[in-house]
Amino acid sequence: MSEDLLHRLLLNGDVPRHVAIIMDGNGRWARQRGLPRQFGHKEGMKAVREAVEGAVDAGVEVLTLFAFSTENWQRPRQEVSALMSLLQFYARQEVKELREKGVEVHVLGELDRVDAHTRKAVDVLVDGTNGGSKLRLNLMISYGGREEIVRAARLLARRVAEGDLAADEIDEDAVSGSLFTVGVPDPDLLIRTSGELRISNFLLWQLAYTEMHITSVLWPDFTRENLFEAILDYQRRERRFGRVTANS
Ligand code: FPP
Repeated sequence: MSEDLLHRLLLNGDVPRHVAIIMDGNGRWARQRGLPRQFGHKEGMKAVREAVEGAVDAGVEVLTLFAFSTENWQRPRQEVSALMSLLQFYARQEVKELREKGVEVHVLGELDRVDAHTRKAVDVLVDGTNGGSKLRLNLMISYGGREEIVRAARLLARRVAEGDLAADEIDEDAVSGSLFTVGVPDPDLLIRTSGELRISNFLLWQLAYTEMHITSVLWPDFTRENLFEAILDYQRRERRFGRVTANS
C-alpha cells in the first residue's frame, strides 16, 4: 500500500522540497491507553523514524520536525526530562543509520537552555551525520517562532549599530538570513497531526505561503504512508503565492 502511494507521488513529480511537521498527539495517544504521557513520546520516536525514511524515499530535500517548543519548558519537570532523555537516546541510537542513509541532521533553537548531556548527544548526532546529501533533517528544539524573529531583529540591530548594515538595507532576505533556518528554502508543505488547527508558534516567518495538511492521526500512529498521503494531497493543490493564475 505505501509502495503504491510512493509510486504515485513519484509519477506526479513536484515532490515538496521542504516538509515541516508539527508532531502532536503523543499525550493523547498515551492517555487513550491509560499510560503516562512519556510513553506517547517514546512511541513518537518510532514515527520520527517513519517520517525520515519516507522523506528519503520520496526525495524530499529538507524535513523539519518540531521536537520541543519554548512553551514546552513549562511542562512538568518530569516530562521535560523524559523528553530530553529521549532526544539523547534518539541521537545515540540513530546516528549510524542516519549517516548511512545520507541524512544530515541540524539541531536548531535556543540550545543554551538545554542541559549539557542533551547538548553533547546532539553534537554527536550533528557531527556524525555531517555531509549527508540525501536529506537535511532539522530538529527544532527549544524553538519558538516569535523568539526566532526577536533574535533576528537583535542580530540585525547589532549589525546596524556596528556599521555593517544600513537600516534601509534590511529586507526580507536580510531577515530570512538571520533566522535559525538561514539558507534553507521555506517549507512547501506543513503537516500537523492530531487534528489541531493551529500553527503553535512554529516557523512563523517561513510558513507564509506553505500549504497545510492536517490529519487526525495522533503522532505515534503516523507512518510513511501518512507522509505519502500528505504529499499526494499537496500535489493536488494549486500554489498561487498570492497571485492569480491563467485560468482565473
Ligand atoms: C506533542 O505531543 C509532542 C511533543 C511535545 C514532543 C515531540 C517529541 C517526539 C515525537 C519524541 C521524540 C522526538 C525526537 C526527534 C527524537 P503532546 O505531548 O503535546 O500531545 P497532546 O497534545 O496529545 O498532549
